[in-house]
This record gives sequence, C-alpha cells and structure tokens, in this order.
Amino acid sequence: MKQIIGGNWKMNGSRLASLEFLREMKRLGSEYASSDIVLFPPFTLLPLMTDAAADAGIETGGQDVFWLEKGAFTGEISPAMLVDAGASWFIAGHSERRHVIGETDEIVRRKLETGLETGLRGILCVGELIEEREAGKTEEVVRRQVQSALEGLDCVSPENFVIAYEPVWAIGTGLTATPDEADRMHSLIREWVAAIKSNDFADNTRIQYGGSVKPDNAAEILSRPSINGALVGGASLKPESFMDIIKAVPLQE
Ligand code: PGA
Repeated sequence: MKQIIGGNWKMNGSRLASLEFLREMKRLGSEYASSDIVLFPPFTLLPLMTDAAADAGIETGGQDVFWLEKGAFTGEISPAMLVDAGASWFIAGHSERRHVIGETDEIVRRKLETGLETGLRGILCVGELIEEREAGKTEEVVRRQVQSALEGLDCVSPENFVIAYEPVWAIGTGLTATPDEADRMHSLIREWVAAIKSNDFADNTRIQYGGSVKPDNAAEILSRPSINGALVGGASLKPESFMDIIKAVPLQE
C-alpha cells in the first residue's frame, strides 16, 4: 500500500515562505517520492501554493472544513471553497480542533461527510488525551471516535479516506508512542474499521501515525506494516526535515 505523508503547518507560514518551501522541496526531489505527499497550509495560502505544489509532486488540503455548503456562518470555509482554492484534501477532527476549539464527535462526523460528498479526500484524526490514557480508556475513546465517524457513512472508501492515529499527549511534545504501542493501536483501529465496514475496506485503508514524528524516529515508525504513513506537524515546517521523513518511507516491493 502506498504510504501517505501529510504536513500540517497549523497556524504557521506566509506567502513568501511557502513558495520558497515548495521550491526547496522540488530541489530536494519531492516529485520522485514513493509516497503521496499532502501539505495542509493555512487556508489563506492554498490558492497561491497550488501550481508550485503540483510542480513539486505535492497535493494540498485544508486543515479543517465546515459541514455546510454556504450561508451565514462567519469565519467558516466550505468544502466547495476548498476545492475552489485548489485543495484536494481536508482534515477532520484534528485534536486541536477537538480539544482547543471544542469540536464534538458529531461535528467531526458532519465535516467528514460533507467534505467527502463534495469530492475531497479526507483525513480523520483520532487519539486519546493523556488523562484518558492514564485512566486506561485509550481503546474506548479511539473506538468511539472511529465509530461515530464511520458508522452508516456511505460516501467513504479507502480511496477517499485516511485515518491518522495521533495520541494527543504526543503532539508537539517530543514524546511519541513506541512503535509497538502505535502498531497495536493501528491493528485495533483496523479491526474496528473492518467491523463497521468490511475486511476488504479495512485492509485497503491507510492509517497514518502522528505525534512528534521527526527525521530521527520516522524510519522506525514507518517501517511497521500496520503504519501507512505519518501526519507531521512541527517537522513539516522545514523542507529538509520534512524531506528526511519522506525519504524514511520504506521502498515498496
Ligand atoms: P507534531 O504534530 O508532529 O508537531 O507533533 C502532529 C499533528 O498535530 O498532526
């Protein structure tokens, strides 16, 4: 299965720096990468980046999306607007949206559904808080997040959908789940997806790991067969470190 490496810039970046970033990625050979590469810049940079990203073999996506097409929703961006801005992907349910902004499972589900119905491809983020982990609730929480996003969702397929398992305590902290822990959660998520959809669906769905993925731990994480890519925050802000992670993807036979 082809891996997918996402770069989530969060609230970072500028017009000048984003074009320099893409030029440097191309110079470093991103267009020859064996995995899919998707950058998630702030909305404001999407239209500017489209052509240069395509030239570097990179797709772009929105870090979030609203669940309705248009209307009186001050500050929101609809899926059709993302398409119009050149994006082909979106993220639903990033932990900062869930835990800083307060998005519920229901909101995440609606975002996922509308985004996919519009023809975008979506990354669903799931993951437990440190308190949930310490209370032994990791599986319960992640299972609930997966179920509420996927149950009865007809517009989803392994072609338009990716899951990112991101333990919240590992995001931006320098801590990572051990490859064994991540491996175990990825296998469980695949089982839950199989129960909701089908074995075939689950076997073909890519599950990324996210949370302090860096050049020095990427090879170990990405070499696990249950892990089909990474969603990278901090280390995606510099072309050199992002490229080193992309190069850590094992070659497919
Ligand atoms: P990080 O962020 O790589 O900076 O931990 C990951 C993410 O939030 O997707």
